Amino acid sequence: MIKLSPSILACDYNILGKQVKEAHEAGAVYMHLDVMDGLFVPSISFGMPVIKSLRKSTDVIFDTHLMIKDPIRYIDDFVASGSDIITFHLEATNEVEATIDKIKAAGIKAGIVINPETPVEEIKPYLNMVDMVLIMSVHPGFGGQKYIEQSTEKIRKARKLIDETGRNVELEVDGGINLSNIDEVLEAGANVIVAGSAVFGETITKNVKEFLEIFNKFERG
Ligand code: DX5
Ligand code: ZN
Repeated sequence: MIKLSPSILACDYNILGKQVKEAHEAGAVYMHLDVMDGLFVPSISFGMPVIKSLRKSTDVIFDTHLMIKDPIRYIDDFVASGSDIITFHLEATNEVEATIDKIKAAGIKAGIVINPETPVEEIKPYLNMVDMVLIMSVHPGFGGQKYIEQSTEKIRKARKLIDETGRNVELEVDGGINLSNIDEVLEAGANVIVAGSAVFGETITKNVKEFLEIFNKFERG
């Protein structure tokens, strides 16, 4: 199943709960939570208290994307705040396996993320351990950037590597995705689509439904 994971980075935080509810009710089954530490990426977004508070108002699946240095330090906190999936960057740690183990030991799903300049082959050693691979199609740190074209080839390669394992690993893509480039992302083999600025705005329900309609068409062939 192809899933939409709207990034709340593009929300109006004054009415965060309301906007998340609207996106969920319109059919988004994941909600993408971009956590930034001002160190691994230049910007700072939000952390555990916001997620914890949001958790009280929705049962949508929380897809937490950690853009933080040495993420192993905070896994317990992000699990406790209500994450269902935690992804972290290969570039942010020397303890990849231990971090995956820690996430899985908490009983939730674990995923690895690679930046645009990181070769896709680097995910290979971990494919037998993870539930998700996330390919960044922009440089992490800010919403509203332009999709980097070379990402499509990386998605294709990642899909091939995943299929070779025979395991059911989700392939997520994040950054600059909108209705005009979604087709090539799906054709390359992604099944979880992050979209921030293309979802949150004036017409959340309409935006979500437009994505889902394209997913349905694609799945029907
Ligand atoms: C970038 C974040 C993305 C971003 C996506 O660092 O990881 O999730 O918010 O936003 P759009 O869809 O606007 O590129
Ligand atoms: Zn993200």
